[in-house]
Amino acid sequence: MSTALITSGSRGIGLALVRQLLARPVTKYPLILVTSRTAGGDELEPVVAANATRVKRLVLPDVGNVEQVKAMVSHLKTLAPKGVNILINNAARVGPPARLPSLSGTIELREQLNTNAFGPALVVSTLWSSNLLRAPPNAPPKGINFPPPNVSPHGHSGPREEWGYEFEQARAPTSAPHYEPTGDIPNVPIVVNLWSTQGSLKWTGELWEGGSTRDDLIFHPVYAASKAALSGVSMQLAREMRVSHEVYGRRLGGC
Ligand SMILES: NC(=O)c1ccc[n+]([C@@H]2O[C@H](COP(=O)([O-])OP(=O)(O)OC[C@H]3O[C@@H](n4cnc5c(N)ncnc54)[C@H](OP(=O)(O)O)[C@@H]3O)[C@@H](O)[C@H]2O)c1
Repeated sequence: MSTALITSGSRGIGLALVRQLLARPVTKYPLILVTSRTAGGDELEPVVAANATRVKRLVLPDVGNVEQVKAMVSHLKTLAPKGVNILINNAARVGPPARLPSLSGTIELREQLNTNAFGPALVVSTLWSSNLLRAPPNAPPKGINFPPPNVSPHGHSGPREEWGYEFEQARAPTSAPHYEPTGDIPNVPIVVNLWSTQGSLKWTGELWEGGSTRDDLIFHPVYAASKAALSGVSMQLAREMRVSHEVYGRRLGGC
């Protein structure tokens, strides 16, 4: 049973993801939170109206704006006091297809980095620091042990804020902080950052060398750079938040 949050789900892939979750059993996804840039008048409106108890809208005009994200998270706290188990960072500024190294392209780069790379990191960190990014509330998979409360998987003791993981998810005592993945659905909060092959440095290299069969005309340099930055953000978030992987016994998946 998971609560999901999708950023900018009022159209496109974000809205398709809302519909996909709605098509799953209500027992599995009882609450689907969706941000949108405006309060209504879009394709999400009839979906919310038809599923009022299950789909809730949160207004977030700019995913790269610190105050707006804080306000959205504070609203979320009232809608979902137990937090979010699956975060899908879908919102993105996809155009215009500006070129580097023009000045207009460089200014556009700032916008796209803010929305496409900074935005996802901001949503993760705001939820995380508010203790609202949590593993699903079901029992941990068999075979996974938990460190004692107030001791981090790295052996740090003291207030959990200092090393930040889900205190109440980790009540059971353990002697072993490392676990082998078993192939079960990970009992960790899941963060999905929507990437693009345009952010692939390998593909960029092939275009550089003229060895790619891909049409250069569909390649948006600024967007590609912002999605490459998102790769870095995702990797570093995963690494930094590995404390939760160890708590929940996972090295893959999760955030
Ligand atoms: N479509 C593809 O082929 C494709 C391929 C690979 C990856 N992706 C990724 O998949 C995701 C969704 O793509 P899509 O095709 O559905 O894109 P889309 O139709 O352009 O939708 C993007 C959504 O993000 C919103 N948005 C733009 N700037 C924002 C900001 N500053 N703050 C908050 N929301 C903002 C847009 O709002 P507005 O409605 O106001 O514009 C829109 O609702 C993106 O992350 C994209 O990079 C897409």
